[in-house]
Amino acid sequence: MSSEAAGVRVAVLGLGYVGCVSAACLAELGNRVTGIDRDENKVNNVLNGLAPFFEPGLEQLVRDNVAAGRLTASTAIEALQDTDVALVCVGTPSEKNGNLGLDQLRRVVSDIAETLEKRKKPLVLAIRSTVFPGTCEEVVLPLLSGSALVSVVSNPEFLREGVAVKDFMEPSLLVVGGSDPEAVRLVASLYSPLQVSACLVSLRTAEMIKYACNAFHAVKISFANEIGALSARLNVDPGEVMATLCEDTRLNISPTYLRPGFAFGGSCLPKDLRALNYRANRLDLRLPLLESTLPSNNQHLQRAIDAVLDLPARRLGIIGLAFKENTDDLRESPVVSLLEQLIGKGRQVRIFDPHIQLDSIYGSNRNFILQQIPHIVRLLDSSVEQLLAWCDHVVVAQKMPPQLASRVTGAGLPITDLVGPTLAYVAAPVPASVR
Ligand SMILES: NC(=O)c1ccc[n+]([C@@H]2O[C@H](COP(=O)([O-])OP(=O)(O)OC[C@H]3O[C@@H](n4cnc5c(N)ncnc54)[C@H](O)[C@@H]3O)[C@@H](O)[C@H]2O)c1
Repeated sequence: MSSEAAGVRVAVLGLGYVGCVSAACLAELGNRVTGIDRDENKVNNVLNGLAPFFEPGLEQLVRDNVAAGRLTASTAIEALQDTDVALVCVGTPSEKNGNLGLDQLRRVVSDIAETLEKRKKPLVLAIRSTVFPGTCEEVVLPLLSGSALVSVVSNPEFLREGVAVKDFMEPSLLVVGGSDPEAVRLVASLYSPLQVSACLVSLRTAEMIKYACNAFHAVKISFANEIGALSARLNVDPGEVMATLCEDTRLNISPTYLRPGFAFGGSCLPKDLRALNYRANRLDLRLPLLESTLPSNNQHLQRAIDAVLDLPARRLGIIGLAFKENTDDLRESPVVSLLEQLIGKGRQVRIFDPHIQLDSIYGSNRNFILQQIPHIVRLLDSSVEQLLAWCDHVVVAQKMPPQLASRVTGAGLPITDLVGPTLAYVAAPVPASVR
């Protein structure tokens, strides 16, 4: 156990699947832990050395740690009075409309707020329940009435029921988010005996990452099932297909293609998805995830186009025309759709792409661009300097090599970056009604 965590007293609020596992495992790591729950039955179970529900390995941990005096439980919120860190693990069930139910969270934080008057030492409140980004700032903090004694951090839980103790002790990911570095470090130090390095992020990122992970898991399962269903209908072994797909750890099971940015395009992805969906349709096989991929891509492209149309610019200089960097392939380039709409709405545009000289492209590539934008040749600049001297706003539609990037940024013009990971062109204030 780290010296920082040694001597830290921990309260766990909510002794459900997440809270009870967290409490027992943190006690097993050497911390002094008090579990607090309104449910007397759960509290009595823990006090009697029993797990309040079945989870492999949990009962033994509860029994051993209660016996060793490291784990206790109470129904009284006052039990957190002499603790340093409170982990909030109450339920956040779905409401009828799908929204997240925050009643348990509001109640427990209000209960904690009432104890603050008598409190002498600081408290770090770590929200482990799954909550939507902004909840800590907009729901939790206001309930604490700005008490200087409390710091709020987000510390989402990723354990899976059935292997929860193992997942806690061998975490695949540890995330702690907040703006108070001391509080963030203290919460991260609780896990320091484990073989994992903490990702220290912003409060909102920590809240969002839990949703991103669960959505990703759900999409992966549905993807495997849809590819599997189509494979089976085509008399192909689904297991063999997916196992082979997983062999590629560079493009498939890797961070590649998992960076937010611009829409995809090119001569393969759209064409092959269309063919796959067409064939599935003919087999009367509904594959909603795969069917929704091209519409999803079109929506993303439209967001970018709308943002460019909204720019207060008179002369737009577009960097990049091919569907990605280091190619001159223009087929199904999203930039071509962008240009079509900009030109169609009367915007003045010029384009520079380091790899596109219209004289040297030919075949289906040349036919595609001339069909879409017949007068493209008049819009292409042969040097970036020419483009920068003409435009009053730069739109980056392709990843730039460092030299080109420094020339573009050096021009001092406003830039809208469609390919960067921040998706600044999508950002807009969240209406209060959906918070
Ligand atoms: N179950 C999982 O596999 C899992 C995994 C990761 C994250 N999560 C998230 O963790 C959170 C907790 O999930 P869970 O499955 O442990 O929920 P749960 O319903 O099993 O447990 C919640 C506990 O909180 C207690 N509680 C409610 N209000 C309280 C209050 N005011 N004071 C004290 N105790 C109170 C309840 O009595 C209950 O025992 C949820 O946000 C969930 O989405 C769950």
